Order: sequence, then C-alpha cells, then structure tokens
Amino acid sequence: SKAGYDHFMIKEIYEQPEATRNTLERRLDANGEIKLDDINITKEQLDKINKIYIVACGTAYNAGLVGKHAVERFLKVPVVTDIASEFRYSDPFVDENTLVILASQSGETADTLSVLREAKAKGATVLSIANVVGSSIARESDYTLYTWAGPEIAVASTKAYTTQIVAFIMIALDFGLKKGTITKEEYMNYIAELKEIPDQVAEVLKCEDQIKEISKQLVDKNDIFYLGRGLDYSTAMEGALKIKEISYTHAEAFAAGELKHGTIALIEEGVPVIVLATQQRLFEKMLSNMQEVKARGANVISITEVTNKEVEKSSDSVIYIPEVDNILAGILSVIPLQLLAYYVAKERGCDIDKPRNLAKSVTVE
Ligand code: F6R
Repeated sequence: SKAGYDHFMIKEIYEQPEATRNTLERRLDANGEIKLDDINITKEQLDKINKIYIVACGTAYNAGLVGKHAVERFLKVPVVTDIASEFRYSDPFVDENTLVILASQSGETADTLSVLREAKAKGATVLSIANVVGSSIARESDYTLYTWAGPEIAVASTKAYTTQIVAFIMIALDFGLKKGTITKEEYMNYIAELKEIPDQVAEVLKCEDQIKEISKQLVDKNDIFYLGRGLDYSTAMEGALKIKEISYTHAEAFAAGELKHGTIALIEEGVPVIVLATQQRLFEKMLSNMQEVKARGANVISITEVTNKEVEKSSDSVIYIPEVDNILAGILSVIPLQLLAYYVAKERGCDIDKPRNLAKSVTVE
C-alpha cells in the first residue's frame, strides 16, 4: 500500500533513511565491523584480481559509476563501469583474474544476466548486488550482497539506487581491509561516517518544500541540463535519467569540463541548469562553470555542502546538503534530484508510478 502517500515513488523516496540503515546495520557485527553475509572471498583471491568490471543497466549502472569511486579508492584496483548491453557485445578482457560486480534491483534484467553467465563461463568471479531475494542474478552469482531496500514498486528506481551505493562502499571497505589496501583505522573511521548517512538522508529530505517551489519553474521547460565533475557527474546522470523517465522532459547530464567543447552552445536565457558541486577537489572548477552558464542567462540551481556558501553569488537557488566525505555526498545529493523529478512530473500530471513505455523489470533484450 502507499501508506498515505500519493504515489509509490514518493513513499520510496521517503523510505531511504530506513533502507540505507537496513543495508548497512544488518551487516555490522558487535564490534562495528562489516560482515558481508556469505561473501567469504579470501585475501589470496583478492590478491589475484587485477581487473574489476562493474556492469549494470539504467539507474543501477549510474550507481555503479559511483561504486567505481569507492572500489578504486579502497581496493586500489582499476575499475571500468559499463552498461550491460554494451559490455556483452564488446569482447571484454574477462578471465580468472577478473572480478565482475553486477548491480540489479530486480535481479532479472536480461542484459545483466547474460553478462553474468558469460563472465562465469570465462572463469571470472561474479559478485552481485541485488534487491530481490532469490532472483536469477542473485542465485547464479558466486557471491551476492542484498540491498535491504524492501520492495520497490515505482518504476523509477530511488531507494534501490542509494542502497546500491551503500553496498558498493561496504564491499570496497571489506575487501580493502582484507587485502590490506586500507588500514583498520581508516576503515573504522569510514564506517563511523557511513553510519551517519541514514540520518543525513532524513535531513536532506527536508528540502521538499524548496524543491516543490523550484519544480514550478521547470514545469514548462523543454530542456534541463545537469552539470557535474567526477562523482558529481555520475549523480548528474542519475538526476537526468529520473526526470526524463517520469516527467518526459528532455534532460542531459554534462561533464562540466566538456561544456566548452560543444554543449555550452545550448545555454541561453532561462535554461535550467542543475549544478552539482559536492566534490572538494573540484569545487573551484565547478564554481567557474557555474559562473559561465550564469553569465549566459541560465537559471542555475545548485546542490552543494552547507559550507560552500560562495555558490550563492552565481546561483538562482541553492539546495544544501550536510558536509560529508566525497563518495558519501553522492547518496545525499541525489535526494533533491529524485524529489525534483517527482514534483515536475506531478505538476505535469504524469503517471508517476507507471511512466509510458517502461516496465519495472526488463527481462527481454
Ligand atoms: C530507472 C530504472 C531503470 C532500472 C534498470 C535496471 O529508474 O528503474 O533504469 O534501473 O532497468 O533494472 P535492475 O536494477 O532491476 O536491473
């Protein structure tokens, strides 16, 4: 049931504090350390792995782009994130020393399942992050970590995405500690930060009224652009996908550094540009991109940490998130984007839970 909410999507957006908490805390033991269910991969196995592919479709792919940052940071192995329908026909370098991580809410996505079977046939180790217990992808993988998001009914994925990111981080921390690529101290400190996330998600959800107001400015727009660098670019892609699928508004994510290489030609008076600026190292760069689009008349809506008040000079609206680690920022900054997609779709009178032409689970190619 929708438990008093107008749509499953908004209910599921609001379930994210609990969903992220379940995904994490069910795997913390009495010492506060991560115990990844039955994933008893050994240090010897991890030492052999020289290549990691993260493969998925749609929103799960976008979560995998964030997952790459976590895995590379803590495991120090290069990671390629790819779309399942591309990867399966690309003759990838998969062998016994490859780890393939799949992410899938339904666990039944045809392209992702086919990547799983091919990777296993080539001797790779396959680990899946799935939400539906007992689904094909979960059953056929060597190892499975479930996101305890609970049933996701709305076609547009929300809580599956944020819990998948939590799962990627937990895997990266656990494997990194086992392999010795992070210290016990770094590991414990990071878990302490991760434990704050559910409450911080709840905090960010308070931007709902502000988002409702902003959505009124976007309802008649033909195009909306999302800008980011690094991990923020991945979040931008997820924000753009969400608003496309449920509000039928054309939206595109740009890597902000690419603006000058073509796309800035699209910026004109009144075009909404959502700017993500949560990555510390990239903040100054984002600030200048923000100024560039503002100077061309864009309606700049920025999302940044509360300490970055400088954005106000070049923004029409600012949505603040708490100050957190760069990877964790991806869990928080997507929340306003989910709400924005929801409220623009609502203003436009769209069928939010069942957008046209889409199915919840894509079991055919
Ligand atoms: C977008 C959306 C889809 C799914 C994609 C993969 O909101 O829901 O893009 O993320 O079809 O589905 P799963 O995760 O079930 O493999």
